[in-house]
Amino acid sequence: MADAKQITVTIDGIKVQVPNNTYVWDACRQIGIEIPNFCYIPGLRAFGACRMCVVEISGRKGWELVTSCSTPATEGMEVRTINERVWEQRNMIMEALDTDHPVDCPICEANGDCRLQDYGYEYGVVGTDNRRPKIVRPAERLSPAIDLDRDRCVVCGRCVRECDEVVGAVALAFVERGVETLIDAPFGKSLLETPCTSCGMCVEVCPVGALSSRINLKMEHHWWQRKTETTCTYCSVGCTIKLGSTRNQVYEVRSDDALGVNDGVTCVKGRFAMDFINSNNRLGTPLIRRDGQLVRSTWDEALDLVASKLNASKGAVGVVASPKITNEENYLLQKVTRLGLGTNNIDYDGRATEAPALKVLGEMLGYPAMTNNLLDTRQKAGCVLHIGDSIYETHPVYGNQLQRMIRLMDKKLVVISPRWLKMCEWATLWLAPHAGTEETLVNGIARVILDAGLVNQEYLDSRTANSADYLNSLRALSFSLTEVSRKTGVPMRDIVAGAYLYATGGTDNGPNDLPQPTHPSNLPVSRNGSKAADNEANVLNQIKSYQPRKPDNGFPPSTVIFPAEGPYTLTAKAVVALTNMALTTGNIGRAGAGVNPLVSDSNCLGANDMGCQPGYFPGYRPVNADNAREMEELWIADPDRVAPEVPADPGLDLLHMIEAAELRGIKAMWIVGSNPVLSAEEPDSNRVREALKKLDFLVVQDIFLNETAELADVVLPAASFAEKEGTYTSTERRVQRVRQAIQPVGATHTDLAIIAGVGERLGMALPAVSPKDVLDEIAKVVPLYGGMSFSRLDMTEFVEDAIPMPAAVSYKQLKVKSLMWPCIDRLDPGTPVLYKEKFATPSGKAQMVSTKALQSETTERMEANIGAEGTLMATLGFPLFPFRTGTLSRQSYALSRVEPDPRLHINSKDAAKLGIVDQTPVQVTIEGIEGDPVYAISLVYDRVLEGRAFLAITLEQTGTNRAVREARYALMNAYGDGAKAVPIWVRPAPNMSNTPMRELQPVATANVLNPSIQP
Ligand code: SF4
Ligand code: SF4
Ligand code: SF4
Ligand code: FES
Repeated sequence: MADAKQITVTIDGIKVQVPNNTYVWDACRQIGIEIPNFCYIPGLRAFGACRMCVVEISGRKGWELVTSCSTPATEGMEVRTINERVWEQRNMIMEALDTDHPVDCPICEANGDCRLQDYGYEYGVVGTDNRRPKIVRPAERLSPAIDLDRDRCVVCGRCVRECDEVVGAVALAFVERGVETLIDAPFGKSLLETPCTSCGMCVEVCPVGALSSRINLKMEHHWWQRKTETTCTYCSVGCTIKLGSTRNQVYEVRSDDALGVNDGVTCVKGRFAMDFINSNNRLGTPLIRRDGQLVRSTWDEALDLVASKLNASKGAVGVVASPKITNEENYLLQKVTRLGLGTNNIDYDGRATEAPALKVLGEMLGYPAMTNNLLDTRQKAGCVLHIGDSIYETHPVYGNQLQRMIRLMDKKLVVISPRWLKMCEWATLWLAPHAGTEETLVNGIARVILDAGLVNQEYLDSRTANSADYLNSLRALSFSLTEVSRKTGVPMRDIVAGAYLYATGGTDNGPNDLPQPTHPSNLPVSRNGSKAADNEANVLNQIKSYQPRKPDNGFPPSTVIFPAEGPYTLTAKAVVALTNMALTTGNIGRAGAGVNPLVSDSNCLGANDMGCQPGYFPGYRPVNADNAREMEELWIADPDRVAPEVPADPGLDLLHMIEAAELRGIKAMWIVGSNPVLSAEEPDSNRVREALKKLDFLVVQDIFLNETAELADVVLPAASFAEKEGTYTSTERRVQRVRQAIQPVGATHTDLAIIAGVGERLGMALPAVSPKDVLDEIAKVVPLYGGMSFSRLDMTEFVEDAIPMPAAVSYKQLKVKSLMWPCIDRLDPGTPVLYKEKFATPSGKAQMVSTKALQSETTERMEANIGAEGTLMATLGFPLFPFRTGTLSRQSYALSRVEPDPRLHINSKDAAKLGIVDQTPVQVTIEGIEGDPVYAISLVYDRVLEGRAFLAITLEQTGTNRAVREARYALMNAYGDGAKAVPIWVRPAPNMSNTPMRELQPVATANVLNPSIQP
């Protein structure tokens, strides 16, 4: 909080400046003094339970003993962090804890990483005469991932508070009272029966060995493990994690408070789903198909064969890059594709579904990426508009951070989604349009902003083009409140409240005389707007006679956040509407504002940046644009070039490569780190299989023998992210290092080495093949990355994070090692917020787009079906636990156990009518799909609106189960048409009803990787 009043405190004779009311503990940490503590976690509300953090401060009555974790610092305060009096106090506390703590350190998971051990040593407590026997309780398995040994618990409450305040799950609680106080899942449940997300943060923050993980294999003492700071390989938040390894095994994943943009928080995937690294199922050696069987070969043999076969098919080769490999690897792959094989047929898995949102931003604003960054949106936005699928599931750590800031800083959250999302728990307003009508709703909100006089005309005049046409188009009858409410199903008063909240940065929700919107937590019933008794003329009169009070420094910023990819994806037109609305209120180009689509995988954005798409060279130069030739010139001067010329026309995307393979237009494919048999944007996985079988040659490069690799002529075993150096670019344009923790396992090679091996065999010189040298080459070729280098990316930047607490401030400086593009040269600090001065369009102005009424077949169909006997309107989404095709997450012991089945979310009244009991198997039939129904587990609760349903399925299931896969395509239009809902019929599954959920066999093909983690 850079603008908070700064004060000066003197700590052990050293002066330090911190924001007023900073906790003394946090102020001490600013100068490197870490006060002992059990119960405090920076960023959480003070608890003051253990008193270990005692210090002396100068008070009115002389030096006073206080707990530093709950005492706010004031101007001129003096602090003594250690002297005899303080030491004695801490020694007494340690003696008290030592009376009944079991001394079983040699067999404790926390041995070597335990505060009780550390402080016992520091304060000379080595066994007390007053020892009393501990009540001996057996260790308990709280969930497949988490164990609890109650005897070791020091009742610091860190786990309970972390779970509540940081994660927002509230899955743990204190039980019993007095000396019997314990932590547990409420009512003795398993954590699986609570909102626990299995994130493991309770284990991470436990200062002793009470909570531990079955997944992190602490078979090696902590002090033996080398800790490697790297970037998580799952989603695109870009969390910094620390891999603990010895003897070439990764044993555990840890995180540090204040480390990385994630501030030491991880989700279940980042912490517990890394067991794929040392899986016994990893590919170990190259394989070549002989007599129909894949048999082991040498690297030279395999690479020679790959190069000669690809060379033989030149002109008819397709290459699939990966959102999981590094920027350097993707860059080299597209270079070998273009310069070595002479084709633009390169794409990556998953690009098609998120491309429309990014393309809209590119065309209207200049860059195809989110405009702001995650830190500033959570710190500075006054109003957050979360639209589309649930970021709490798709980008968990950002969802965690956002809910925390919304609760602590009283930000306003508006959720737009046909289904209740976890984030609705903290929302001021939930708008639940029919799926497919989001564009109409956003335009309706923009129309209210216009009618209410909340347009930022000065901004429109100075920074945008085409604004008058856009505003005129909003005045169409189809965007009247009556029409928008009828089409979307959202009550007029809620549309009005959404408009005011967004346009005023969360300071005002509209005329007080209007019926106020209902808080999401009080929404047990249908909110079908067409039945609402609002009168448009009255509402408009009130809007026109109402003026919200504008703060002296203007309204706070508002931001828009949405997942760019998934089964429930916004249409490109909805993204246009959101961008228009943001421009109309001046909410682009300022910190805390913006339009922010979150891409899915760890390096989706990097794959785009590196030119792994058929129409663009690295740095988004269209292959057919004049300036693309500049890059060609750079490459022509390069001895790497062996292909005669790179075609000036865009190549084929992944789906069209598959179609071309069917027709023999593509004869060879090189697929890296992808599994298109499960994931290609084609409903029929058999069609993909058959197309790939028609190829003359298929080479797959991956870390597992996935469904696509099973069809290959050559399989090249690749190293995982833990075995390589490089960079990832997170969804917020943040380039961060990937660092090597262990050597490539078995005979695997890094993707970079494999790609270079193929390129060299194609005759390319490839002077730059080390990760560092390739990044240096990228810096020369891609202006957005001009200032990037390994040495700069290894430097720590301290980012202030000040969080207001009740009557105090929690203040820390996040340690972040990254640069955000555009970063033009070595002096450029990077660009956390785009378009502060001008847009990156040729004119420097944002291009607004006129809108017109949505003639939605979806709406008509939906209206026709609402209330039809036995019919529910369903949308589809991915759950939290699995990840994309499951190549990695299927290998995870934890993920395959916590939520392996598809889930059908359904309202209790609908469930009663259909005879469906909570948590039992149901059979779902989808309109227009013949054949087997989809089997799912029911989740019955009232926050699903009557008449609607939500089917949570995994991408892996969409690939392996024909019915699920077809359902996905029935529920979602690929290629930018976005989400819709379709009628479904649900009934109890015959012969399976009332079977407790836990007794069902997982449908996921989970592998238990290491026998030592069997429960
Ligand atoms: S794993 Fe995460 S969500 Fe579950 S109890 Fe622990 S902190 Fe809470
Ligand atoms: S389990 Fe650990 S974190 Fe939770 S109260 Fe006990 S000691 Fe503290
Ligand atoms: S939020 Fe994303 S990047 Fe962070 S730990 Fe989870 S999967 Fe990894
Ligand atoms: S850390 Fe301050 S009272 Fe526990």
